[in-house]
Formats: sequence, structure tokens, C-alpha cells
Amino acid sequence: MKFQPYNRLRVLAVCFGICFSQIIFSQTNISIDTKVNTLLSKMTLEEKIGQMNQYNGFWEVTGPTPKEGNAKEKYDHLKKGMVGAVLNVKGVENVRKLQEIVVNETRLGIPLLFGFDVIHGHKTLFPIPLASACSWDLDAIEKSAHIAAIEASAVGINWTFAPMVDITRDARWGRVMEGAGEDPYLGSKIGAAQIRGFQGTDLASNSSIIACVKHFAGYGFAESGRDYNTVDVGTSTLYNIILPPFKAAVESDVKTVMNSFNVLNGIPATSNKFLQRDILKGKWDFRGFVVSDWGSGYEMIDHGYAKDLKHAAELAANAGSDMDMESYSYVRHLKQLVDEGKVDIKVIDEAVRRILRIKFELGLFDNPYKYCDAKREKELIYHADNIAASLDMAKKSIVLLKNENNLLPLAKTQKNIAVIGALANDKNSPLGSWRIGSDDNTAISVLEGLKNIGANITYAKGADLITTPTSFSEEVKINETDKSEFAAAIKLAKKSNVVIMVLGEHGFQSGEGRSRSKLDLPGVQQQLLEAIYKVNKNIILVLMNGRPLAITWANEHIPAIVEAWQLGSQTGNAIASTLFGDNNPSAKITMSFPRSVGQVPIYYNHYNTGRPGPKSEVFWSHYGDESNKPLYPFGYGLSYSKFEYSNLKIDDSNPKKIKITVAIKNTSAVAGEEIAQLYIHQKTASVVRPVKELKGFSKIKIGAGETKEVVLYLTDKELGFYSNNGDFIVEAGTFDVMVGTSSEDVLSGSFYKN
Ligand code: GLC
Repeated sequence: MKFQPYNRLRVLAVCFGICFSQIIFSQTNISIDTKVNTLLSKMTLEEKIGQMNQYNGFWEVTGPTPKEGNAKEKYDHLKKGMVGAVLNVKGVENVRKLQEIVVNETRLGIPLLFGFDVIHGHKTLFPIPLASACSWDLDAIEKSAHIAAIEASAVGINWTFAPMVDITRDARWGRVMEGAGEDPYLGSKIGAAQIRGFQGTDLASNSSIIACVKHFAGYGFAESGRDYNTVDVGTSTLYNIILPPFKAAVESDVKTVMNSFNVLNGIPATSNKFLQRDILKGKWDFRGFVVSDWGSGYEMIDHGYAKDLKHAAELAANAGSDMDMESYSYVRHLKQLVDEGKVDIKVIDEAVRRILRIKFELGLFDNPYKYCDAKREKELIYHADNIAASLDMAKKSIVLLKNENNLLPLAKTQKNIAVIGALANDKNSPLGSWRIGSDDNTAISVLEGLKNIGANITYAKGADLITTPTSFSEEVKINETDKSEFAAAIKLAKKSNVVIMVLGEHGFQSGEGRSRSKLDLPGVQQQLLEAIYKVNKNIILVLMNGRPLAITWANEHIPAIVEAWQLGSQTGNAIASTLFGDNNPSAKITMSFPRSVGQVPIYYNHYNTGRPGPKSEVFWSHYGDESNKPLYPFGYGLSYSKFEYSNLKIDDSNPKKIKITVAIKNTSAVAGEEIAQLYIHQKTASVVRPVKELKGFSKIKIGAGETKEVVLYLTDKELGFYSNNGDFIVEAGTFDVMVGTSSEDVLSGSFYKN
């Protein structure tokens, strides 16, 4: 091609730019901040704005298709250095292709970030976060995230949009599967463990990826559990329930924060200065960058907060949202806003500094292709070590909800077992809804797991769960009428010694955009369960679901119930090893199970109210037709072992470190693990405190017949709370202390704190 003068100049400029970057940025004796400022000083305004712009790749869409923009425009912007990050790009080849365009064809060659929703594994999938949270095993959770980072980095990804730390109390919300449940103390510990796993100890390693704590803030309080709905919470709930897991993430050096779709006090989070500048970047001194959620920029128009896309860009940038994901607002309008003086160049420079700093910390300027090793991709994904870790995490996430007359575990010699339920043969639903990085039909199904363990089983579907195949973005069509296969299942159950029923939700009935107004077993499953119960009461119900379900009938009739959630790639093997006793279940739920959807939101750390009742007349806080209590409370979970608590001691001789001791005896003949939980209740305070707050836990192995002592401590960090102006305070007063096997089964004591 004959070079025109302009082209020749452009080529020279690009070459100079690339040489300049390589010389400056390879110097190890120059601080990252110096490199950032040096680079920033070379950038045009368009190039700066480009760093604040993230596009979806061209392989997956994880949100509404943008109202504007198209692949050609995206490629043009890529070549002009007007893109700082992309998401959903799949495979090392595609990552390398985009990175080469940016590094070789743009003036300064600033490498891209490649983001993806690596929520609970990438190729090898782990249990959904709400399941692994039930393990209360922070080391196992960290390891799961580390393996997810290895697999994601092996396919070119250097940024995950996880952990999601949204506290939630409403099982109707589809995204409860993505978080750690209803408690901020446990949610903070779990989020921090995930961040350690993703980011590792050395970001320059090609097995580390940057984490993104989300969704900042309050998304889990969507009214009526309806996704994307209005959030309206009180100040004390914001400071004491919603924000602590985000603060813990910042203290764990999380590199990015994603804001959220919802409003807070009537202001969309994406343009919420209070959240992003006052709290996150101000009070907490967060040094990374904030990315918007998918299109949350342009959605401010629908919220009625931005007049148009240009106004949305002005509001979001000035409020501290550093990078725009898929609303095209920054790339279309920020330059004009700066020219018009509506957005100060300082705002742009601050945002770009934050983004460039992370790219330097990741080592992308030293080697933009550090995540593009095709050999590594082949070696590391679905590696045997990853599979083993996934199986381990799955076993630790299974909750035993009921086990009447020790029906479980089944003897290996058990003959004539019926297995009934469409989900028993499903190789996708166990992977959960956030499985876009993995491959279809890669879960070990329950049927396969039972066959792998050598169980003597016969299968009957009983009924389809859905009527038509579905996908990540389509509504699931549930079978509400077809019972044509009931008869075959009933016939099988009649002649079987024991029946394993696998019932629950389709993998796409929970997750983003997947709210439900009911919490019962979907479709004809409840009818199937009752029909089988009529002919054989020896039923083991295995639940496969992404949220707590209101399974009151089952709890009253079915002798054994196992909550198996969606356990990822090794689902079938984990369930089989539990049903036959190789795995002794130890998990405990981290979100209350309601008796009925009418109780929701229902959670353990509630206030006492002024009328806790019960009173002889009706004037107290209760329902006339339902208990106030959940079906299964926070922290509940059984084991094949039996644990007895005794001898609770509270030693407050050192007021700065109160020592709590309890003895736990395993009175069974089976060694097992117990999660001992420590709760407090400050009886009187300047802001009412919940009747119970988790402030410590210990997971311990206890041999058959053995007694172990558990020691936990309470310091001001655990005893304090946030006042309504956001100050952390510790007040004198009487504290109840409770230690036990669940939030409702505890030994109690108290002490007075001066
Ligand atoms: C989605 C989700 C967010 C995700 C992002 C990118 O809409 O809300 O959690 O990380 O878009 O896929």
C-alpha cells in the first residue's frame, strides 16, 4: 500500500508511541504512579476517554443488547485507542487478536483488560456461591476462587466480575444464588476469601486476575425480590448490613468495584456521589477503579434521573463511576462535556489514573500477552486438580436438612433404589446460571454419580421440569400440566425399597433476571412428590435449587431431605458420596428458609420490635395464619454425627478481648465436622440492635465420642456498630452471648461491657 503523508506520519507516531511505552514502562526502578503520570501526560483527551470505555466482546451478551452501537463501530474504536476494556471475549486466540490490534495499531499501545463473569469457576464449575457459603470454609472458598482464576487466566481473562457480596433477605430474588446469604459478618469473610483467591499475592503472576466486588450498593434489597426493582433502605441497614462486606473487600485490596442498577435514596448508584466519592473513595480510600454495571449509565434515563445519554455521562463521571460498561455514554459524550466545562479534565485524569494503575499492577505493559498462552489453555482447563477441588467444595456445601430414623446414609449394599425426577438426569442445571464460560452438559448428573458409586438404581423421570429448551437470556417455560409419566414413576416406586427424588429448580430459574413470586417446587413436582409418597414413604428428597424454597409439606412428610443446591461440575459424585456416607455432611445454611413466601423477607438478624409477643390478644407482631419462625433458620444444618454443646463460659476479665469457651461432644459413632457459631445481642443501644448477630464461628473436626473445646473472642470490632452518621461506635451495656449449632439452637450467657 503506497503510504500517503498522513499515513506515514501516523505510522511514525504509532512507532514512537510504542517505543516510548516500552522504554519507560519496562523500567523497574520507576514507580507505578510515575509511569501512570508519564503516560497520562502523553495521552490525548480521546485516548483518556477510551480508557474509560468498556465494550462487550462479540461472543456473549450478559445484559440487554445495547440500544446503540455495533461490532463495526467497536472495531473502529478499538483501532483508535478508544476502548480500555472488553468483556465476554472467549478463548486465547480471540483475546490475543484484540490485544494485538490495540498494542500494535494504536498510538500508545495501552493494553486492554479482559473481563468476564467468573462467578464460581470458569470451565471447571464449583458450587454456586450460596452453596459454597454453606461450607463456612474460608480456605476452601479461597482455593475455589484461585482455581477459577487459573482457568480464567488460561483462556485470556485478567478480570472477573466477582465476588458479588450483596446481602439479601428475599429468596424471591434470582441473584441470591450469587452471594453468601443474609449475614454481613459471614458475607464479609467470604468476600475477602474470594478476593484473595482471585488476586493471589502477586498480581504480576499470570495466574492472578483482578477481582471486582459488586454491586455497590444495596442491589440485594430490591423490593419484592424483583430484580432491578427499587431499593429503599434505612440508614442503619445501609451502614450495618449492606456496606460492611464492601468495606471488607476494600480492606482486602480489591482492585475494582462495580456499581449497581438500583437507586439509593432516589439516586441511581452509578451516579451516587455519596456512595462512590464520599464513602468508597473518600472514607474508605479505595485506590482501584469503579466500573458501571452493564448499561447502568443509559438506564439512568429510564430511572428519570438523566435527561439523555450525554447527561448520563456527565452525572456518572462526576459521581465517580470511572469506566462505562456498554452504555456508550462516555465514548459518545465525554469529550464534548469536557469542552463545555461540565466535566472537569481532573475528573477524567483521576479516573484514567485509577485504570492505568491497575493495568501496570497486572504487568500488562511488561507483557500484554501474559494471559495468551495457548499451551497453558490446553494444560490447565478441566485439570484433574481442579476437578478434585470442585468435588471437595461440593461435598462441603451439601446441607442435611432432615434425617428421620437415620434413613441416611444408605448402605452400599442397599438394593432396589428408585431414582425419580427430571433433575436427576440433568447435566446443565447443576452448573447454575452463571456458566457462560464453561461448556454445556459438563456436570456429572445425580444419575451418573449414583452409577459411579455402584448404586443399584432404576430411573424414572416422573415429569419434565420444562416444556422447551432454554438459554441464558430466555424465560424458562415450566411444565405445569404434563403428568403423563407419573404412572411409570409410581409403578417403579411401588416396587422399590427406597426412593431418591431429585426435585427443585431449573438452572435458569435463578440468577440475573430470574425472580420468582413463589417459593414452592415449580411445575408439577409437588404433585409428583405427593403421588410417590402415597405408594412409598421411604423417600430421600434431594433438592437442586438456586434459592431457599418453602418446602413445608416435604418437611412434614418426607423422612430425609438433602439441600444440594447447584454444586457445579461434580454434582452427582458429591451427592452420591453423601447419600452413601462417604461424605458426612457438615454444611449450614446462610439464608433462612421460609415456611411460606408470605413471610419473606425473613432473616435471623431482625430487630425485636416493640411488640415481640406473643400476647394473649392479637396486638403483637405476628400473622394470624403463619408462624414468625422460618422453616430452617440461618446457621442450620445436620450431620450424620450428633453434637452436644455444654459448659459455656464467658471470661470478660480482659474487656478488650472477651474469651468465650464452649465444649462440644460428638455423641455418635461417626467422626464429623461441626460449625460452632457465636452470636451477640446488645440489649439496649443508641440504635436498636438485632436480636442476634453472628460475630464468630469455628469449624472443627470431632471424632466419634470425642469432646473438643472451642474458644472464640469478642473485641470492640465485633461489639461495635455503625451509628446513623456512619461512625463505628462501641457502647457500654449488657450483651447476651449465644453459642450453638444454629442461630436458634444455642447456649446463652451475658456480660456487661463498661
Ligand atoms: C450483568 C450483571 C453483572 C455482570 C455484568 C457483566 O448485568 O448485573 O453482575 O457482571 O452485567 O456481565
